[in-house]
Amino acid sequence: MAAPNIDTIVSLAKRRGFVFPSSEVYGGLGSAWDYGPLGVELCNNVKQSWWRWIVYDRDDIEGVDSSIILNRLVWKYSGHEATFNDWLIDCRKCKARFRADKISDNKCPSCGASDWTEARPFNTMLQTKLGAVADDDPTALAYLRPETAQGIFINFLNVQTTMRRKLPFGIAQVGKSFRNEVTPGNFILRTREFEQMEMEYFVSPTAEHSKLVDYWVEQYLEWFGSLGISRENLFLYEVPEGDLAHYSKRTVDVMYRYFPEREKPWEELMGIAWRTDFDLSTHSKNKVDAEGKRINPDSTEDLSYFDEPTKQRFYPHVIEPAVGVNRTVLAVLMDAFSEKTNDKGETRVILKLSPQLAPIKAAILPLAKNKPEIVGMAKAIKRSLQPVLRAVYDDTGGIGKLYARQDEIGTPFCVTVDHQSLEDEAVTVRDRDTWEQERVKVADLAEHLQKRLKPFPVTQPETI
Ligand code: GAP
Repeated sequence: MAAPNIDTIVSLAKRRGFVFPSSEVYGGLGSAWDYGPLGVELCNNVKQSWWRWIVYDRDDIEGVDSSIILNRLVWKYSGHEATFNDWLIDCRKCKARFRADKISDNKCPSCGASDWTEARPFNTMLQTKLGAVADDDPTALAYLRPETAQGIFINFLNVQTTMRRKLPFGIAQVGKSFRNEVTPGNFILRTREFEQMEMEYFVSPTAEHSKLVDYWVEQYLEWFGSLGISRENLFLYEVPEGDLAHYSKRTVDVMYRYFPEREKPWEELMGIAWRTDFDLSTHSKNKVDAEGKRINPDSTEDLSYFDEPTKQRFYPHVIEPAVGVNRTVLAVLMDAFSEKTNDKGETRVILKLSPQLAPIKAAILPLAKNKPEIVGMAKAIKRSLQPVLRAVYDDTGGIGKLYARQDEIGTPFCVTVDHQSLEDEAVTVRDRDTWEQERVKVADLAEHLQKRLKPFPVTQPETI
């Protein structure tokens, strides 16, 4: 069972401290969200899972963390200044403004009229100014990056030479990106500030690029599975040739069922694109066009690669899996959402998060908070577990309420300290999903929990 709609998650997220509407004390800021105590843990766990899987578990990928603000020329030559546009139209009757590609039946969603202005481009890169300069000084203009990818491309040579890499190899980066979205919305699905986890996989121009796209699609389906996202809630969309980005020869989007209640339930979770050699050549000083003219007279570097076995120099091609942190978190929350009815006929929410993603792994609960010995023992257990796994102590309610709260935030185990514990040095461990309880010796507790907290399995990657 998954969440019936995004609204269910919005309300759970606010009620339980995952995500809050941003700037609420000033009436909010449209489509901006702040991650609360549990949300920040969940996001960090998603990013850590990705990093471990893509950088540590493999032998062919390095990591970087580039600046958010790059030289403006990066965005000129990447094509973003000229083409990173949404096409806007205005309704002549009610003056409402929309993205042209979002109007399907030629009718204004606000007033129903069909009288539109011509579509015009609106560049969605967010601008800023660098230094203490005049407002109208054009040389101070800079952009907040709209994708993390370009920070990887401009560091290709740095990474390749310092880490002595040979093709094929990849570079991964996770970080914030910004887009002045015309129609942000649907909670954390589309926002102006978001996080991406991108990896650029560099290969020879003669590699089987389309097969590599398929390979990465399969790898990501596995990884999503390890996060608890069900395969039946994912859908592969082959982007038609006419809709491909200017740098892409093939793109497959992995869509998630974010809108199960709608006729069209799918929205993009990630894209896997064959970006050709566009990016490395466009940032290179030696690349020339058909007439022999340098395509980039501003670059001081050549990002080509010398292939020792073939003695050839070329610009590597790139396969790019690009996934959003926030959209992954939303899919994880929707898929983990479930409900269960207890003996009294009360329905409880249980967030069946994969143990590796759960913000809290174990909650230590004293059965009687007015008994100093029990409280002392529970707090000592919390402290002893903390170096091994994320644990919290909670005595803010009766045991039934405490269990229900931990179920709702996805804590895999509740550990209860009772009167008997003082005698037998054992505690009750309660399982979130089955509600089954077992007695475990305090001395064995850390090992017992660690064994049961294993992530959902993911197949080790095959070498390419
Ligand atoms: N470097 C390629 C690239 O950026 P993209 O499809 O534009 O490709 C990749 O973005 C992923 O980033 C998307 O699949 C989505 O998960 C996430 N993303 C893009 N725009 C977003 C937004 N406004 N809000 C939240 N996530 C976004």
